[in-house]
Amino acid sequence: MLVSHELMKFKFNQSPLICFLFFKPNPNHQKYSSQINRAYMATSVVTPNPPSIEEDLNDDKLCSSISSFSLNETQNPPESVSVSSLDKEGRIERAWAHWKKLGEPKLIVAPMVDNSELPFRMLCRKYGATAAYTPMLHSRIFTETEKYRTTEFTTCKEDRPLFVQFCANNPDTLLEAAQVVAPHCDYVDINLGCPQRIARRGYYGAFLMDNLPLVKSLVEKLAQNLPVPVSCKIRVFPKLEDTLAYARMLEDAGCALLAVHGRTRDEKDGRKFRADWSAIKAVKDAVRIPVLANGNVRHMEDVKNCLKDTGVDGVLSAETLLENPALFAGFRTAEWIEGEEESTKVGGIDQGDLLVDYLKLCEKYPVPWRMIRSHVHKLLGDWFKIHPEVREDFNKQSILTFEFLYDMVNRLRDLGTTVPLYVKNTGLEVSANNDSENAVATRKQKYGSSVKSCKEDEFGIFRENVSAMEVQTAPENYIQILVSECENSKSSLRSSKERNSSLVPNHRQALEISIGIGSGGDGGGGGEGGGGGENGDSGACQCTASPPEIPPQPQPQPQQRPLVFLDERLEVVYPVIQRFKNLITSDPFNITSTWVGSDVCNYIGYYCESPPDNSSAISVASVDFNGYRLGAPSLVRFIDSLPDIALFHANTNEFGGLIPSNISNLRYLYELDLSNNKFTGAFPTAVFGIKSLTFFDIRFNSFNGLVPSQIFAQPLDVLFINNNNFLQTLPQNLGSTTSFYLTLANNKFTGPIPRSIGKASKTLVEVLFLNNELSGCLPYEIGYLKEATVFDASSNCITGPLPCSFGCLAKMEILNFAGNLLYGVIPEVVCALGNLANLTLSDNYFTGVGPLCKKLIQSGVLDVRMNCIHGLENQRSIAECAVFFAHVKICPFFPTFSLIPCQISHNGWGENSNKSSPGTGGSGYYTRKRSKPSRAPSPTYSALLRHRL
Ligand SMILES: Cc1cc2nc3c(=O)[nH]c(=O)nc-3n(C[C@H](O)[C@H](O)[C@H](O)COP(=O)(O)O)c2cc1C
Repeated sequence: MLVSHELMKFKFNQSPLICFLFFKPNPNHQKYSSQINRAYMATSVVTPNPPSIEEDLNDDKLCSSISSFSLNETQNPPESVSVSSLDKEGRIERAWAHWKKLGEPKLIVAPMVDNSELPFRMLCRKYGATAAYTPMLHSRIFTETEKYRTTEFTTCKEDRPLFVQFCANNPDTLLEAAQVVAPHCDYVDINLGCPQRIARRGYYGAFLMDNLPLVKSLVEKLAQNLPVPVSCKIRVFPKLEDTLAYARMLEDAGCALLAVHGRTRDEKDGRKFRADWSAIKAVKDAVRIPVLANGNVRHMEDVKNCLKDTGVDGVLSAETLLENPALFAGFRTAEWIEGEEESTKVGGIDQGDLLVDYLKLCEKYPVPWRMIRSHVHKLLGDWFKIHPEVREDFNKQSILTFEFLYDMVNRLRDLGTTVPLYVKNTGLEVSANNDSENAVATRKQKYGSSVKSCKEDEFGIFRENVSAMEVQTAPENYIQILVSECENSKSSLRSSKERNSSLVPNHRQALEISIGIGSGGDGGGGGEGGGGGENGDSGACQCTASPPEIPPQPQPQPQQRPLVFLDERLEVVYPVIQRFKNLITSDPFNITSTWVGSDVCNYIGYYCESPPDNSSAISVASVDFNGYRLGAPSLVRFIDSLPDIALFHANTNEFGGLIPSNISNLRYLYELDLSNNKFTGAFPTAVFGIKSLTFFDIRFNSFNGLVPSQIFAQPLDVLFINNNNFLQTLPQNLGSTTSFYLTLANNKFTGPIPRSIGKASKTLVEVLFLNNELSGCLPYEIGYLKEATVFDASSNCITGPLPCSFGCLAKMEILNFAGNLLYGVIPEVVCALGNLANLTLSDNYFTGVGPLCKKLIQSGVLDVRMNCIHGLENQRSIAECAVFFAHVKICPFFPTFSLIPCQISHNGWGENSNKSSPGTGGSGYYTRKRSKPSRAPSPTYSALLRHRL
């Protein structure tokens, strides 16, 4: 096949990874390659008209900040290290001597416009970073505008080693700007990698890759005139030899440190394109100055692997640090646990702690509020997903205050938001910063719980008594101070808790009295059908903590009839319902007004039946609150206290808090629908104990973290967990599911679709994986799903060919893989499927279709827009396809893509060998049926819609 040949070519073109751990001078340095000359040097050194200053300023906030530095400032210039008088050997020796003097920092904060400003750098340094870049500064604006100089670049004496980055296209202007910052930094860096539109317009960053003579003159100007060394940050060219020639040119021009971002100028999206570490390694081998690697450094394991695989002298991290500034201290977000939960522990700090830490630093080192805003969004992104209303409130603040921000973090905590950072037991610490990393990690693990309640003290101490450098160099002392202070504030916290706890018995007493189960209670009901007593009850629930010292004079009470219940089981649940009624915070349809008296079976939302263990008894068998929009902070001691409940349906309400762990005791519960509520926190593992559960629906909530693999071993018919914030690789045992309907859409699941999915061949009918971050190649085992009618994994990052095994999906009606990275020829066997109503493969990189597929395109069944099928309309450009295929990923188990694990009939492909389909028996109380459940959504995809009731 044409495509596979093409692929093989790509495969062999990739340079093998060879591990060089030691610096190895390369004697074969070449001068400028002729290819670079041809491709890039044709343009002259002359720069196009630069944009106006206003344009540049508006254009970004892109360029970022000097505390009171001015062009006229008379600083003592550092000892000159200008390289003009040195030969190449001398320059390289100088470069290494300087690097060593700085302590050979390995863990480096990358330059980030509006984001690697002083307080953020200090935060990262506190958590293990050993050097940092400033955001990119615009050299011309820097020389022309004092306000820009004083607001966009600030530093302090602990902020070292520091690399100050400029963008430039004029050597004299660059030198003028660089001379201002030189006394305050360890390198002046030239941004040669910015790929954004603004850089194209301003003619700087990666767009200078088209004008290498200009780049050369920028580097030479600094190297020959500046008292500090010059460093460069570059992107790679599509062709390795061009990258290597480029790197050698920079070295020859006087660059003393080279940071290589392993993506090309066109590979802007760091999430989509993996950085090419092999190209970085090749650069490291090709030059003799220190080299840093950038791209795909998201946790300490990446650090270790990158150092090992490329042999570089240090690594830069950018985007991940924004979410997790404690990355270099060994912490990682849930995203990077990647199915390794067992070796991973909750780390004891979270992004809320880091934000508070950052805010304290901002109070000490003021920066523009836009930078603070940006960090709040990055640090609390996952938290805001759980509580979008808090994000909205934050966005509404046209003027921010620190008070508001501290309150916001507390508010999120009060709402029960927990998005922990994790630590992995790997022993991967990098020697450069071993002490501080271990110390911080130890502190967080050992004192994690007290750190939270003591955060004010912690950061107060940090600000007042301990400098960032002290934290890095003497972590143990730092810990001591924290612990002793925490103990103090813990004890004061305890005493206030103790004071508050005296509220509890009184409140409970009042409640029990009010619902007629407490010592003094006999009159909760107020008479069947009366209603007045219930209102009186809720009034009683509002009573204050301490009983009044002089009891009020007893009022003459109307004679109350005792409640008479149809069955003792109803008498048991009566107080449970009344207690819950007292917790209701909203009830727009006045449902709870019917929850009065002893006739529980007539309350709206409750249904009674005889339980299986006693056919003459009557009990509450089912609760159906669908669409009532009832609000309650929690279902604890409600659902779990209805012992005979079989169905609990509560979609479209405003219930929140955690799912009660005691629901595992509910012996008859088989349908649990909590969709479209405000539940938060981790996956409700208590459901694993409910043996009879067949229908489990928690979609449209704010659950987060990991989905335990046990859920796929639960004998469910329906599993809807879409539209939450679950974040992990799909568990390997996913195929153990017995579900007919499996909807995991709109979460953040990562990694490949497990091969085990084929095990669910007899059951899976609809599978919705769309809008996640799935990657890897499609397992051919999907072709075993002979009952499947819908399979949608659109909008993910799945790559590789479409397996021919899909030709066995005889019942398939809707097959959707739009918006992935699939390639190859669309197999004719798939287009021959007899029941296909919709085959959507648009927005991929497919390269060919046969006659059957062409027919489907004509009939509107097959959508192949935006692929690489040249000759068809609405396809990607050849250039776009070429970029993709230059980095195409080859799938493991490649031969399996042509396997067809079924018999093909004579009059067509993909004959359905098994005509049986799940039965459609009715659902009865207490009977679990293996049938396509009647409550499954209809039509397809309605699981992805919020209920409209
Ligand atoms: C918010 C943001 C701002 C950035 N600003 C700059 C910049 O000012 N100068 C620069 O050279 N690179 C800048 N970058 C690119 C990063 O330094 C880095 O090269 C890139 O994000 C790849 O690293 P990563 O994979 O660790 O994110 C920026 C990246 C981000 C996410």
